[in-house]
Amino acid sequence: MVQNTLKDTFKNSNYKLAGHGERNIHVLKEAFKSIDGDLESDNYGEGAVIQEFEEKMAATLGKEEAVFFPSGTMAQQIALRIWCDEKGLRKVAYHPLSHIEIHEEDGLKELHKIETVLLAEKNRVIELEDVLRIEEPIASILLELPQREIGGQLPSFETLEQISKHCQEHGIKLHLDGARLLEVLPYYQKSAAEVCALFDSVYISFYKGVGGIAGAVLAGDKEFIKHSKVWKRRYGGDLISLYPYILSADYYYRQRADKMELYYEAAKELAGFYNACHGISTLPLEPVSNMFHVHFHQAKELVEPILTEVQQQTGIGLTSYLKEIDENSCSFEVSLGDLYETVPRELLEKVFKQLDALMKQRFSSI
Ligand SMILES: Cc1ncc(COP(=O)(O)O)c(C=O)c1O
Repeated sequence: MVQNTLKDTFKNSNYKLAGHGERNIHVLKEAFKSIDGDLESDNYGEGAVIQEFEEKMAATLGKEEAVFFPSGTMAQQIALRIWCDEKGLRKVAYHPLSHIEIHEEDGLKELHKIETVLLAEKNRVIELEDVLRIEEPIASILLELPQREIGGQLPSFETLEQISKHCQEHGIKLHLDGARLLEVLPYYQKSAAEVCALFDSVYISFYKGVGGIAGAVLAGDKEFIKHSKVWKRRYGGDLISLYPYILSADYYYRQRADKMELYYEAAKELAGFYNACHGISTLPLEPVSNMFHVHFHQAKELVEPILTEVQQQTGIGLTSYLKEIDENSCSFEVSLGDLYETVPRELLEKVFKQLDALMKQRFSSI
């Protein structure tokens, strides 16, 4: 008999706890179903479709101007290059696990020869003290809110204010990796513009909590955006038509920007269910956005069959993968979206009762 894998049982489950649903072609079709076919395409960064969305995002983020990019990777490397050029100094600082450091094949260093200073230990967020400890001159600091690779943790808003003030006083440009900015607003109890006011430049994504196809917006003052557009052209980011990304970004933004509080509450509840299970804990213990990581204090090979069995027996999808941390621990990431509220309560209780029972059965004597 063919053994079912974790991935298969997740794929075949009737309900999934995380996300908005499959990233298939329906996502694009749904966004376009009520769009007039005579609407004109944007053209190399010009035209109403792109300009109106950029204006809307600039206003939302409280910045003078904004520019739409195909990816956050492109937008952020460019942002840091601009701040380095302005100061005549190719050095920036950020967290050791920021996206730009670990997921971009060293684009910043290879393409721009920008040196980096890594702030804070890997397992915690950047605090004011880390910034005060920087000895060498730097052009910019990038803060990622929330810090994804450690479960989506956040510094306090007061810390952000203090770091912002320090940067202003010392001529350091503060850039926000706000890939998940909307997702942290319910925790901070602030508007996007209130958070962005602490930063000189800001990037947000449209395919994470918003759930669009792809795409990003970079926002800042007029001069910064003027330079961003030149770099976007140099990078090949000025696709002749970006409207499939823009219109879908706008559609899902309108659907979901106001649902972030709901996802945040769901994340807190779901983390509570995991934490009540034997040998399982979430990072952070209480989520501060719609995301968190689920940690198992056992080897991946031992946990995988348990999750597979639970998914197969209950028809509830918890995860499609497990990441090995070391030989005695593993984890997976959860980002809450539209699907959570579709799961019947009794099934939710059932799945965690079963998970807890299996974890106890296999591991309580170890
Ligand atoms: C925190 C963070 N920053 C930047 C990016 C880059 O976004 P993109 O995939 O649009 O290049 C990501 C993508 O996962 C991210 O999680």
